[in-house]
Amino acid sequence: MYVCICHGVTDTQIEAAIDNGAETMKQLSSELCVGSQCGKCCKSTKRVLNNKLYQIAEAQPCVA
Ligand code: FES
Repeated sequence: MYVCICHGVTDTQIEAAIDNGAETMKQLSSELCVGSQCGKCCKSTKRVLNNKLYQIAEAQPCVA
């Protein structure tokens, strides 16, 4: 699904960037240009980012 229409960026591309190490909106913007034109995709991009980071955190073994 397209998240950023201005730059033609999909949720799959955003998730791939996160898998490759992006952890912040600034990093996603630098890498994919999301949010750098009209800004209307920022909220959706943030949602994809937070969901993906949550999934990654949940998959980590508990260190106690
Ligand atoms: S929709 Fe992403 S910058 Fe416009």
